[in-house]
Amino acid sequence: MAAATTQKTVLLGVSGCIAAYKSAEIVRGLQKAGVRVKVVMTAHACEFVGPTTFRALTHEPVATRLFDGPGDAIHHVSLAQEADLFLIAPCTANVMAKIACGIADDILTTTALATKAPLLIAPAMNVNMYEAPATRQNMTVLKDRGVRFVEAEEGYLACGDIGAGRLAEVDVIVAAALEALGLERDLAGRRVLVTAGPTIEAIDPVRYLTNHSSGKMGYAIAAAAVRRGARVTLVSGPVSLVPPQDLLAVPVRSAAEMLEAAAEHFPAADIAVFTAAVCDMRPASPASRKLKKGDGDERLATIELEENPDILATLAAVKGPGQVVVGFAAETENVRANGMKKLASKQADLIVANQVGENVGFGQDENQAYIIGHDGILDLPEMPKDALADIILDKALELL
Ligand code: PMT
Repeated sequence: MAAATTQKTVLLGVSGCIAAYKSAEIVRGLQKAGVRVKVVMTAHACEFVGPTTFRALTHEPVATRLFDGPGDAIHHVSLAQEADLFLIAPCTANVMAKIACGIADDILTTTALATKAPLLIAPAMNVNMYEAPATRQNMTVLKDRGVRFVEAEEGYLACGDIGAGRLAEVDVIVAAALEALGLERDLAGRRVLVTAGPTIEAIDPVRYLTNHSSGKMGYAIAAAAVRRGARVTLVSGPVSLVPPQDLLAVPVRSAAEMLEAAAEHFPAADIAVFTAAVCDMRPASPASRKLKKGDGDERLATIELEENPDILATLAAVKGPGQVVVGFAAETENVRANGMKKLASKQADLIVANQVGENVGFGQDENQAYIIGHDGILDLPEMPKDALADIILDKALELL
């Protein structure tokens, strides 16, 4: 299934337990998957880890008291409404008991009672507390109400005891949260290579040939692949976008540099998506000094061009059996027919054919495309580039 394209919000409840420091890693894990995280803490949690840590990580205010929402008298209600999921990790026996009984006496438990979002609880406590009949009964009550649990694990506990009660591994909690949100990490363990942006081809040290590519389409594909768990390399020509976090960004300028970088990372890639608008031609003999009018240097008046290497065709020709190669076709006319020709001529597994022109394709936030494969054509309506990115990755994944 496709990863979601609208950003989800997880409200992370942190209660007072030595494992509270692991909540910071949970924040990062969720953020890596493209999820927005807001944190609500009990007063006891603040004894173990400071709200500043979460504020810095989330770039969001952290709720620690019932009446601390500036300009928001009923903060627990607005927090409750914002959440797509309320994850409480770690959750103490006390907080679990309160939620089971409907007690709402602080910002965390009040929000838990007020929210209509699904509740996911990752308990952490001493083994005797975890196994106490009251705790087990509270868990049963909550499960019967549809609350999901990431059960505590067996192991060495901070109090010195050994047994069940240790907070589940961060990865397990993050995976459970993403599953509850309907966000699958279906590219986990995969490597994705993306080329993006334009190339620039020097005429002299101050002038160059290029095109209108902003990088938005390629960056959206790279971001979607990261969100879905892939290890991503983004080889990008010069653009003004900031590369998404948690990927390897390789900045290049010319087509020759882009080929060198893409060729280095291509052999390890499961999926390679060639989104870049590579200049087909480059000046045959770029000048080493600025060309000046009146110098009699013909290279300013008449720029002799030579062909650039075709990065997509070069690498698709050496692709291994386990690799999927996706190319683009930027067309001003006969988009579908020209895209079909490029599928064959470039030896790609898929071609994403789109219209380009003034205020079309280049630099826009939306795109309309045909995804052309060897077994059929998907005719897509105009949609945000983020959404198209997920569909392209879905199709590539089907071929893996
Ligand atoms: O960056 P944006 O502003 O978001 O705009 C997105 C886009 C319009 C650039 C993008 O959607 C797109 O169409 N990218 C392909 C641009 C292009 O160069 O198309 P093409 O039809 O000329 O090339 C066909 C394919 O061959 C492309 O995958 C291209 O990356 C590749 N190619 C082309 C020439 C070359 N020398 N080397 C290549 O690898």
